[in-house]
Formats: sequence, structure tokens, C-alpha cells
Amino acid sequence: MIKIGAKVFNTKVFLAPLSGCSDLSFRLICREHGAQMAFFEMLSSDALIRDSAKTFGMLKSATADAPIAGQLLGSVPEIMLEAALIMEERASVEFIDVNAACPVRKVVVNGSGAALFNTPEKLFAIIKILARKSGLPVTVKLRTGFDEPDIKKLVEIARGCEDAGVSAIFLHGRTRAQLYSGGVDYDAIKKVKENVNVPVFGSGDILSPALAKKMLDDTGCDGIIVARGAMGNPWLFKDINDFLKDGFCQPSRDKKYRLDVLKKHISYIKKYSELPPRTPRRIPGASETHSVKSSIGLMRKAALWYLKGFALAASARGKVTSAQNYEELLKILDKLV
Ligand SMILES: Cc1cc2nc3c(=O)[nH]c(=O)nc-3n(C[C@H](O)[C@H](O)[C@H](O)COP(=O)(O)O)c2cc1C
Repeated sequence: MIKIGAKVFNTKVFLAPLSGCSDLSFRLICREHGAQMAFFEMLSSDALIRDSAKTFGMLKSATADAPIAGQLLGSVPEIMLEAALIMEERASVEFIDVNAACPVRKVVVNGSGAALFNTPEKLFAIIKILARKSGLPVTVKLRTGFDEPDIKKLVEIARGCEDAGVSAIFLHGRTRAQLYSGGVDYDAIKKVKENVNVPVFGSGDILSPALAKKMLDDTGCDGIIVARGAMGNPWLFKDINDFLKDGFCQPSRDKKYRLDVLKKHISYIKKYSELPPRTPRRIPGASETHSVKSSIGLMRKAALWYLKGFALAASARGKVTSAQNYEELLKILDKLV
């Protein structure tokens, strides 16, 4: 059991926020395989307050898609607050996470995401205003440094975030410069855990039940967030939960099982791309569904995740990447069994 503010979670294994990946269909597939808690994709606070239909489209959810948290990107406290209030009004989020970890260049040059490591006072101001005025618990996602790991500064920032009012810290054990590769700095996560009183979640290379346990054991962190490990492998949640419970989990799934889950995943993409999304506030009737073109893009992407571990002829992979619609993709997959 983990408490974030007054909210109680009966799991320590969350699905991470994943831009462009953790949409409703992916979250539902993960939840069906043991993920009890997830995040919406990261939302730009500027886009939310500008009523971007595309951004509002990312707040699509379903009854089974709960509990859920929101994550905001931005650097201006007042804009972040306005965005948080919109998110709170439009989606039943358990807490709001401030993204101080995104390494993407166009984000960082605007002073948002991982750049907030270099401007801690700005980060604290964002957290303070959200914690005082949003009415929801506020959390933060950090990295271990900007160019280089800087554990001393990281610990100061983590403590400052706690003083500013965060109810939990999510920590990706890599620097901004590392992006998503290179070793995970377990020691940095351990140091942060030892120096704050709020729950700390470790992130980085949670790719197997053994690596999930390693993160928990080596750092003493309270929980973990699963990211790339779940792509094409959503049953990783069940495997981690089983392994943490009794040191045992099911051996790898066979081809038919994987294909069946993939087919269900793409059927969700089809179903939810056709569903009307939450509409922006000031544009009556405006709506954003994935166009047929973009939903086939999502389906192909998902298919390639699942097929990664398959011994497949290059021609079969090529057919998947050139499928033009759901029905065509399904026919190609049916021939793979
Ligand atoms: C495609 C992709 C999108 C991501 N999007 C976000 C995001 O929107 N917000 C965030 O805090 N982290 C994001 N992350 C980082 C993950 O949440 C996670 O911290 C990171 O991938 C490390 O975990 P892993 O090594 O287990 O993948 C993203 C990672 C990937 C690969």
C-alpha cells in the first residue's frame, strides 16, 4: 500500500507516463494484465489552456481506466495551475505530476521538462502553486542530473520539492544527457529515498520481474513505474506482481498468446479512435478523433512492439508496416499464427 497525499494505492507497480504510447488502448491492455494504476500521456499546459483539440483528445478515458494520474509539462506556474484546474475538471485524476524529466530538445529549450533541474526555484514555485491551489496531490518526475549525474543537487531538489508540497517523487535514474540509454543510477535513487519522507518511485530499465525487484531492493524505493518494458509485453505487470509476491512468475508467453493480445490491443485502438473524445472548453462541437491514417499508425507501432521477439521474415514485418487499415493488418497477423 502506498499513500500519495490522502490517496491510497494498493499497488507499488504503476504504468509510467509515455508520450505517444500510453494512450487509452495501451493503458487498458496493461490494466487487463495487472497494471492497477496508470498515467495519462504527458499534456502540455500551454496546449491545454489554448484548448488544443489534440491535447484534449489525450484525456480520453473509460470506466475500466481508473485510477489514473495526470502529468503536465510547462514552466510558468500560473499556466500550469490553469492547466491543472482544466485537467481536474475534465478527468478524474488522483494526482497531478509535474514533468521535470522530459529530455526532448524543443521542450528543454523552453525551460520545461528536464531543464527545470537547472532552475529549481522555478520548479518549486510550480509545485507550490499547484499544491496550494489545485485541490489535488502534486508529485514530480525528476532525472538524476542534466549533463552529468549530480546527486548532491538532486537530493537538494528532491528535498526542496518536498518542502514545496509534493506528495511523491518519481525518479528516472538517468540524466537528461543519457536520454533513455546507459546504466540506471540506483545509488542516486537510494540517496533520494533516504533523504525525503514522501514515497519515492524508481524508474529505469524495469524490463523484467528480476529488474523490478532489483530496483526495489537496491534503492529501498517505495514503488516502481514500468515504461518500455510494457511495450508489446503488457503481461509484465502480472509477472512483476507475482514475482514480488512469491518469487515466481509464468515463463514467457507463446506466439499465439502474444498475437491474441496484440489483436485485442489493435481492436481497442480502432474502437477508441472512433469514440468522441472530451471536447475543448471554448470550441463548441470541436472534437479530435484519431484520423484513420493516424490510428493505423498507432496500430502498426503496437504491432511492431509485439512482433519484436518473433523470428519473422523481413517481408512479414514489411507487410505490417505498410498495412493501410485495421482489417488489412488483422489479415496479415492471422497469417502469422
Ligand atoms: C516513448 C517514451 C515516451 C515517454 N514519455 C514520457 C512522458 O511523457 N513523461 C514522463 O515523465 N516520462 C516519459 N518517458 C520516460 C518513462 O516514463 C521512463 O521514466 C523511462 O522510459 C525509463 O524507464 P524504462 O528504462 O523502464 O523505459 C517516456 C519514455 C519513452 C521511451
